[in-house]
Amino acid sequence: MGQTVSNRYQDKVVCVTGSSRGIGRKLALRFAAEGADVVINYFRNGDAAREVAREIESLGRRVLLVRANMAQEEKIVAMFDEIRNAFGRLDVFIHNAASGRNRSAMEVDTKGWDWTMQVNTRAFLVGAQQAAQLMPQTGGAMLALSSFGSDHVFPYYLSVGSSKAALESIVRYFAIELADRKINVNAISAGAVLTDALDHFPDMDKTLAEVERKMPYHRMVTPDDIANLALFLCSPEAEMIRGQTIKIDGGITLLVP
Ligand SMILES: NC(=O)c1ccc[n+]([C@@H]2O[C@H](COP(=O)([O-])OP(=O)(O)OC[C@H]3O[C@@H](n4cnc5c(N)ncnc54)[C@H](OP(=O)(O)O)[C@@H]3O)[C@@H](O)[C@H]2O)c1
Repeated sequence: MGQTVSNRYQDKVVCVTGSSRGIGRKLALRFAAEGADVVINYFRNGDAAREVAREIESLGRRVLLVRANMAQEEKIVAMFDEIRNAFGRLDVFIHNAASGRNRSAMEVDTKGWDWTMQVNTRAFLVGAQQAAQLMPQTGGAMLALSSFGSDHVFPYYLSVGSSKAALESIVRYFAIELADRKINVNAISAGAVLTDALDHFPDMDKTLAEVERKMPYHRMVTPDDIANLALFLCSPEAEMIRGQTIKIDGGITLLVP
């Protein structure tokens, strides 16, 4: 099915953490295509982030490019100061950036655990507090990117899975506390999403063909599928969906393996 491009986000300001690559990059581009000015945040891949910024500027939208490590509270606060200076407000905050140390449960060390929690979870706590202060009285939206590891067990996924479970919980608390201020807060959860990251795995074509055969709808979830849902959840059309984690899975999680 083709994409519908509207101007739902005309002149809104949208911040997407971790938007130099993958799903975050797609979210930034799709919000810009619907009229938003975008804050692109990155950490290690400045060239990729600058490329996203160029693409957005070519759509006629403004971009603020911010290098900020989501593991550091002061960098997050400084990013919101930059947003205040550049735009004077924020309409949508999306915490997409994620990192993690993949270890078996018995091998998880507290350094890797702390890093994963800081980037994936604490950054949303700090970011949501900052973002709310920049949102207009007419309201706004926040979104967090979660994964099926929050309530399922995957190999070497303890730290990331736990960080996402806490993230979903934080989403619920902010959703209730910020409802009076017309700020809507939700999460999107996905399993494997078709991004460039999968290109690095050997025999990926074969593995993907096998996964697609098993998928009820016979295709993988793509970053555009995530963007379609994000554009809806952050819009006034979704105002009665609050504090929810919406699974996007093509139906696969309904099947017993
Ligand atoms: N891809 C999937 O299959 C999948 C499935 C379920 C959920 N998700 C969730 O969707 C989100 C995006 O996933 P993805 O696969 O698109 O990720 P990705 O391709 O690995 O990209 C991660 C992004 O996060 C940024 N990032 C990483 N550490 C950071 C830090 N410390 N500070 C600031 N930015 C940082 C990276 O920026 P730099 O490269 O510039 O450092 C990059 O832009 C994540 O929350 C992930 O858990 C993904």
